[in-house]
Amino acid sequence: MERIYLSSHLYWRNLKKGDWKDVHEYASLEVVSRFQNWGPNKEHDTIAYVEEALQAIKVIPQTRYVHALVDERVDKVIGAGEIIIKSFTHRSGEIGYILHPDYWGKGIGTLVGCALVERGFGNLNLHRISATCDPRNVSSQRVLVKIGMTLEGRIRHHMKLKDGWRDSLLYGMLEDEWKTEGGGESHERK
Ligand SMILES: CC(C)(COP(=O)(O)OP(=O)(O)OC[C@H]1O[C@@H](n2cnc3c(N)ncnc32)[C@H](O)[C@@H]1OP(=O)(O)O)[C@@H](O)C(=O)NCCC(=O)NCCS
Repeated sequence: MERIYLSSHLYWRNLKKGDWKDVHEYASLEVVSRFQNWGPNKEHDTIAYVEEALQAIKVIPQTRYVHALVDERVDKVIGAGEIIIKSFTHRSGEIGYILHPDYWGKGIGTLVGCALVERGFGNLNLHRISATCDPRNVSSQRVLVKIGMTLEGRIRHHMKLKDGWRDSLLYGMLEDEWKTEGGGESHERK
């Protein structure tokens, strides 16, 4: 994948093997995986994650796209945005994102969410994009609402976390809603 600029100094590209150390800086933090069914990562967990993401690029047809978010000013991977194609027949996919906490609260999560939606509808021909998040994960809920998603419901006991069963809030967006919101006109490419 070519470099795609999300702002003047942030771009994403495919993850590379050597990125694991940067990824580990955030994936090993408790605060980052608090609402996830993984982590905090040990080094071998992060190496395995990067390896799986690289393998996913080779799968035909590709169903998992992991975008590494790079801060060009420090030449470092500071997060990732992911799209998983759930069904080619129904043209549906799911998004997820993660950032190093040093970069939280600056609108970057929203930027990444927008770019994922644009990639899903604009490049991957999806009709529906969904996302789930822990009801306690307020910042992620804000991101999903700000990028134009609709709260569709609550999935009870969706996942088993370290501290027990977790409900998930389900958010969704349809192709037409993205187009109505001016989709496809926002991101600068290089
Ligand atoms: C979720 C995540 C990507 C958000 O990234 P971010 O760059 O901080 O997001 P933004 O700055 O674009 O927006 C965050 C919003 O949450 C709000 N927010 C943050 N903490 C909040 C809190 N405790 N209560 C209320 N709102 C809160 C911010 O005010 C902001 O909303 P606003 O613009 O309306 O003020 C980041 O926190 C992260 O990587 N978390 C760990 C991984 C994760 O949870 N991923 C999502 C899985 S569903």
